[in-house]
Amino acid sequence: MKPAHEKYIPFKPLKNENRRWPDKVLKEAPVWCSVDLRDGNQALVEPMNLDEKLLLFKTLVETGFKEIEIGFPSASETEYEITRTLIKGGHIPDDVWIQVLVQAREHLIRKTFEAVRGAKNVIVHLYNSTSALQRKVVFKTDMQGVTDIAVQGAGLVYELARESAAQGMNVRFEYSPESFSGTETDFAVDICEQVMDALHASSENKVILNLPHTVEGCTPNCYADQIEYFCDHLKNRENAVISIHPHNDRGTGIAAAELAMLAGAERVEGTLFGNGERTGNLDIINAALNMYSQGIDPGLDFSNVIKLREIYEKTTKMRVHERHPYAGELVFTAFSGSHQDAIKKGMDYMLEQGGDYWEVPYLPIDPADIGREYEPVVRINSQSGKGGAAFIMQNYFGYKLPKAMHPEFGELVQRECDRIGKEMTAQDVFALFSREYLEVNYPYNLKTFRLLERSDDAEPVRFEGVLRWKHEDHEISGTGNGPIDAFFGALQEAGIKDYEFLFYDEHAISGGADSKAAAYIQMRSPDGKKVFGVGVDNNISIASIKGVICAINRTQPKKSS
Ligand code: KIV
Ligand code: ZN
Repeated sequence: MKPAHEKYIPFKPLKNENRRWPDKVLKEAPVWCSVDLRDGNQALVEPMNLDEKLLLFKTLVETGFKEIEIGFPSASETEYEITRTLIKGGHIPDDVWIQVLVQAREHLIRKTFEAVRGAKNVIVHLYNSTSALQRKVVFKTDMQGVTDIAVQGAGLVYELARESAAQGMNVRFEYSPESFSGTETDFAVDICEQVMDALHASSENKVILNLPHTVEGCTPNCYADQIEYFCDHLKNRENAVISIHPHNDRGTGIAAAELAMLAGAERVEGTLFGNGERTGNLDIINAALNMYSQGIDPGLDFSNVIKLREIYEKTTKMRVHERHPYAGELVFTAFSGSHQDAIKKGMDYMLEQGGDYWEVPYLPIDPADIGREYEPVVRINSQSGKGGAAFIMQNYFGYKLPKAMHPEFGELVQRECDRIGKEMTAQDVFALFSREYLEVNYPYNLKTFRLLERSDDAEPVRFEGVLRWKHEDHEISGTGNGPIDAFFGALQEAGIKDYEFLFYDEHAISGGADSKAAAYIQMRSPDGKKVFGVGVDNNISIASIKGVICAINRTQPKKSS
């Protein structure tokens, strides 16, 4: 690489002597304007066809957007026809403003007004480029030259809008000094004031001044300084709505938007998933959900972000990255054991406290709020901790493994991951649990049994049954204070001795009439090994007895297959 200072000119930050935005806090959502169908569409390898645009438009409306830039109707016949179809087909709800972009050139402005005839609410969005670089390299003109283009264009827009208004259309105006952040801010203020005059801006008919970060060429704080300075110096500020239009060339589009809102922006243009020219526009879903996570109602409905992702991918043929904030496949997945453990503790804490507020480590929002499930929260691989497997067992299958059992089962899971050399699914984890605990009936297998329960507490409980050891059946019987004690007695009489009972826990697995009980029993074997056994049955006493046999079997050598 060439030495950077020999090739690149650093951005010259504006001196904002009266900077206040760093001390501010966002309190409410801006007006959102989707530019998916225009800026987003212009950036597609294959622009959307009519059906795709209609589907995306409908989706944007359902999401709650009230201002939607539907296209650039003077740019091509296709764009013109799509605009006409949207209007004539009655697809636009009465409370939605469609926005159309047009360059400040006479024939294009006329064509744009032709395209929107018959629409109820229209924002005519006029733009021309104002930056020092574009003046020098592209237009080869000075500040006066670009001001004239803007003011003449605005004059014509105003004139044609009066005609449309006379025919019943509600018309509002938007002006973008394109490449605002690369424009001298005093000049941007000046040209916008002249455009406002040409458009007869008033507090009843405010002009939207959209200040694009067309190519993100500076850090977000510099953009925020420009926005604050612009707001402070604009004459008749009350006759304007300050809008921003961040792009993402430096990868800081979201930060730029958030700081610019602190600096005074009231309206934000962007797209779903940040689709747009080069590195994209501002991702409105990301910006809105950031607000949501801070307790601010974003005013947009992202309760089914996966559906939105599907529609986006279908209509744009773009792909949402696995790590994309909020929407990516992996963003609610924790691979690390300590993270899994903390998530589980957070979820347990939420259940125990029954509180309203979301307080789960590593999950900035509740995945369920945006239509995602807890299901993919924890994945099991060889890096996972013991808590992850227990989480899966509890949340997917209803088995609340006692804490003392977590290390034992966690180790089995890790060993299995190492053996298969890949991540385990929740089903894999359950299959392992089943193999290790629920289907263990060798060398001991209780074939038949009955419990003679006492009618009064003074009487012992009696256990009688047939226990198969390898391939031989043995009748066994014993008495005790309770069913497990009686079963233990029977085992002792059959010569299965020196097992120590260490721990017991139980819970119901599912509700309703067919609810089952799970019993967890930890035993110490004669050679000092501590093992858990699990028994499941409709009857809790039987579940416990099965748990004891399971634990004993698990201390024995496995049947060779
Ligand atoms: O990025 C940009 O500057 C634009 C304008 C036309 C608003 O898309
Ligand atoms: Zn743009």
